[in-house]
Amino acid sequence: MPAYRSVPSLDLLGEQIRSMLEEPSTSHGLARALRAAAKEIEISRCHHASSRAWPNGRTDATPKKVQIGGGAHRIDGFFNIDAVPPADLLWDVREGIPLQDGGVQFMFSEHFLEHIDYPRSAKHYAREAHRVLTDGGRLVTGVPDAAYLLSHYPANPDLATEMVERWYSKRDCLGDINTFLDLINYLFRDQDDTPNYTPHLWAYDQEKLTHLFIEAGFRSVEPWTFDPKIANPKREWASVYVIATK
Ligand SMILES: C[S@@+](CC[C@H](N)C(=O)[O-])C[C@H]1O[C@@H](n2cnc3c(N)ncnc32)[C@H](O)[C@@H]1O
Repeated sequence: MPAYRSVPSLDLLGEQIRSMLEEPSTSHGLARALRAAAKEIEISRCHHASSRAWPNGRTDATPKKVQIGGGAHRIDGFFNIDAVPPADLLWDVREGIPLQDGGVQFMFSEHFLEHIDYPRSAKHYAREAHRVLTDGGRLVTGVPDAAYLLSHYPANPDLATEMVERWYSKRDCLGDINTFLDLINYLFRDQDDTPNYTPHLWAYDQEKLTHLFIEAGFRSVEPWTFDPKIANPKREWASVYVIATK
């Protein structure tokens, strides 16, 4: 007889986590880990709901333009794929891009890549983007520019103040961003422990993006000129964008 292991359902696990989070005796470190797990459970629930409809990981949709990880910044005329609502398709892109081979002409993502783990998920994503694009298809990727930040260290106080204002003025952590190194820490390892923010797991600059996409099979990677008709205007400052061509 095969040995069966009981696997708790996501719903049950989610409930257990919620009740542990309400428990005053749950320690700070455990609570942080549980909040992170609760986020993953939510992503997993959305992903499994979609993957039940598309069990082979390929939807019927055949969009020519796709945005990945757009969050609330949906782009007209694009098929928006994100792990959580609002999106046209809820999908955990770490599991792949749920589209057929070679049909997409233009793919766009900004401030998404730094939220997935490197190397496993980032490299898988780059290969998947290459797979779903047509020959000559293009992938635009924007991320916070680590080179920009590091090149200004140690920063003059005016620049530091502007950065804090632009990036963190709406956050609870605002009072704790006191030095330029705090900003660098945030770019590399944003671990904001509130439900609105997802962590930064890897930092990128133009060289790193180029290496990632060339390794995935793209034939060229060039700087992309910021276009606010597509990109989120609030991302222009201190970001780096590249366009990779298959
Ligand atoms: C910082 S937000 C950026 C949103 C938008 N691109 C912008 O610039 O305003 C990161 C987005 O990536 C999405 N995301 C993170 N991990 C994801 C994953 N594994 N699969 C799909 N989307 C993901 C999040 O849900 C979120 O919408």
